Formats: sequence, C-alpha cells, structure tokens
Amino acid sequence: MQSGFQAIEPQRLTANVFKLIGEDWLLITAGTPEEFNMMTAGWGGFGILWGKPVCFCFIRPQRYTYGLMEKNSVFTLTAFAEKYRDILNFCGTKSGREVNKTAETGLTPVTGKAGGVYFQEADLVMECRKIYYQDLEPGHFLDPSIHNSYGSNDHHRMYIGEILNCLVKA
Ligand SMILES: Cc1cc2nc3c(=O)[nH]c(=O)nc-3n(C[C@H](O)[C@H](O)[C@H](O)COP(=O)(O)O)c2cc1C
Repeated sequence: MQSGFQAIEPQRLTANVFKLIGEDWLLITAGTPEEFNMMTAGWGGFGILWGKPVCFCFIRPQRYTYGLMEKNSVFTLTAFAEKYRDILNFCGTKSGREVNKTAETGLTPVTGKAGGVYFQEADLVMECRKIYYQDLEPGHFLDPSIHNSYGSNDHHRMYIGEILNCLVKA
C-alpha cells in the first residue's frame, strides 16, 4: 500500500454513497499497471451480496474501459476531493482510445495489493474483483422511461465486484 492511506473495512465507511456516486462521482480504473485506463462513473452502487461487500458498476460497451474490464479480473474505484472535479470531467468526456488520461491529468498511479491500479490523489480507494456480470436486458425494463437512456442500443454491462481492499486517506 502506498503511504498516506489506511485500510478500512467497507462496513466501517461513513460516506453517503448516494452523494459519493451520484454527485461526487468515481473513477473506474481497469487494467494492469502496464496497460490501464480510467473513466468517470456516476451510476452504480455498493452493498452486500453472497455474503460479501460488493460494488455494482454499469459500463457501456463502447467505452475503452469496457475492453479492459473484460480482459482483467481486478479493477478499482476511486473517489476524489472537489478540487479534482475537472479531472473527473475530463475522464468522463475523453476516451483512452484517443488520449493518455494519466499523462493528461497528472494523476499518480499506484499498484494495489491485488494488482489493480488506483491513484495517490484519491480520498477513497476500493480494489475489487469481478465476480459477476450481466448485460442489462431491455425486455426487463418495467419503467418505459428507462429506454430513453439507450438511444443507440448500447445497454450497460453490469459488473459486480467483490471489494477486496478498501483504503481511505490517512
Ligand atoms: C459524471 C459522469 C458520469 C458517467 N457515468 C458513466 C457510467 O456510470 N457508465 C458509463 O458507461 N459511462 C459513464 N460516463 C461516461 C464515460 O465516463 C465516458 O464516456 C468516458 O469518456 C469513457 O472513457 P473511455 O472510453 O476511456 O473508457 C459518465 C460520464 C460522466 C461525465
């Protein structure tokens, strides 16, 4: 673990997850230290499933991050202070296919215990292992307004990740 963080059990987190995900946003980083990419996520969740602390992420197939999620079993979620908002906007509007987001943002990558990549500048880190995925099935949308989110037939793939390591800024 990089200095400046301390390990915490997910059950001991006090953050408001609705604000954390929906307002502050997260970075999802997929890949290995040799080849990784991060994208901003504003949808998702945390909870308990199969007796494990888990996160839920939703990634559209056209994201560059999607391919790296598919190739690798470990990914990270990171949360940042408000002063990093421009970086989150950048990572949520530019694709790693066109730009090197690490070079452009100046974020400092750190390798996690499980091999995932997170950033020294984060306030909160969750290193996760993919344990389930499923593509959202339009036939199961019970609220017709959900279709409005999918003009291009680009239904999200949901990933459920077991939270292996959770770190907070010391
Ligand atoms: C605030 C915000 C939240 C976002 N949330 C998601 C999300 O939950 N899932 C998703 O697939 N894309 C989401 N995006 C879009 C991706 O972050 C964006 O398309 C990004 O450029 C993809 O990068 P990549 O191609 O390098 O993977 C969000 C964008 C923003 C600005």
